[in-house]
Amino acid sequence: MMKLGIVGWRGMVGQVLMERMTAEADFKHFETTFFSTSQKGETNPIKAPNSNPVLQDAYDISALKQMDVILTCQGGDYTKKVHAELKAAGFKGFWIDAASTLRMEKDAVIILDPVNKNVIKTALLNNQKEFIGGNCTVSLMMLAIGGLLESDSVEWITSMTYQAASGAGARHMNELLKQMKFVTDAVMSEGENLSDQILQVEKNVKVLLGDPKFPKENFGYPLAFNLLPWIDSELDNGQSKEEWKACAEANKILQSKTLIPIDGTCVRVSAMRCHSQALTIKLKKDIPIDEIESMIREHNQWVKFIPNNKSSSMEFLTPEYASGNLEIPVGRVRKMNLGPTYLNAFTVGDQLLWGAAEPLRRMLHILLEH
Ligand code: HSE
Repeated sequence: MMKLGIVGWRGMVGQVLMERMTAEADFKHFETTFFSTSQKGETNPIKAPNSNPVLQDAYDISALKQMDVILTCQGGDYTKKVHAELKAAGFKGFWIDAASTLRMEKDAVIILDPVNKNVIKTALLNNQKEFIGGNCTVSLMMLAIGGLLESDSVEWITSMTYQAASGAGARHMNELLKQMKFVTDAVMSEGENLSDQILQVEKNVKVLLGDPKFPKENFGYPLAFNLLPWIDSELDNGQSKEEWKACAEANKILQSKTLIPIDGTCVRVSAMRCHSQALTIKLKKDIPIDEIESMIREHNQWVKFIPNNKSSSMEFLTPEYASGNLEIPVGRVRKMNLGPTYLNAFTVGDQLLWGAAEPLRRMLHILLEH
């Protein structure tokens, strides 16, 4: 049986991964050791079959080296600290990682198997060992329009994103709730039916968002009753790092021979855990809309094609619907007034499932098949 070491199982992505691995009975295929950065020697709280009852030290290179596969959701700092040291110590196993640290390394593969299983299989045959989950927004977009990408129908894409608080982390999600409470508690303290005074209430809300006690130590700014049109660091070319990832990662996932330009503006909104994206897709030629629908629908079993009407869009094409759900709703699909090769689409997906945990656990199964 393959020896699997898991690091970072307690964080938000780790918890979602543990839920999914338990639901799919993944642990039965492995002898699993849970590693911890802070609780070595304590009892392993995860009820997984064939697992070591004691937590091991996540910095113990010789213990990690005994594993056939290490799967980490511990974050980029851990990867930076441990991965190179482990390789230098002669680790020959597989490294599966949720963090972005190794993603663009030459020998690392970005894993999104419904889109690039052929790339993953080729990498395994080439003895590559590093398999890294993609940026959530990129993975969700590619699952949504995998059919158009696979048929080589796409000339370029703009992706305008509406990204949930979860992408920033658990503390940020908590802070969003605190921000909402700070405002609603204050403006609704004497009643909730405020429509007669709503212009004054809106002025009060603005003052509260600027109040020195307004909770914003994580986001740095109000997200509640607001949006933040910048995600991640600033690059010299005017893009945010999150915007840069779309083109760089998508083309790496596909191993495209000809680069597909992808660019847009990434925006944080007050959804909890699902990222949405409005796409403009420039097609290489005029493809009838029913063929486009079929390509999108038939590409993978998770795409949920939403008819382009108001009620279906409001019901199924939302973060609320997609939350906790492996489905990838894709809708608002129509030709744009810009011309017959310009396609409009909107898509949503759970940032913690397909955007983070799911490709990692599926990689374990690909290793079992290998
Ligand atoms: N960078 C993403 C975000 C999450 O901030 O929403 C991780 O892919």
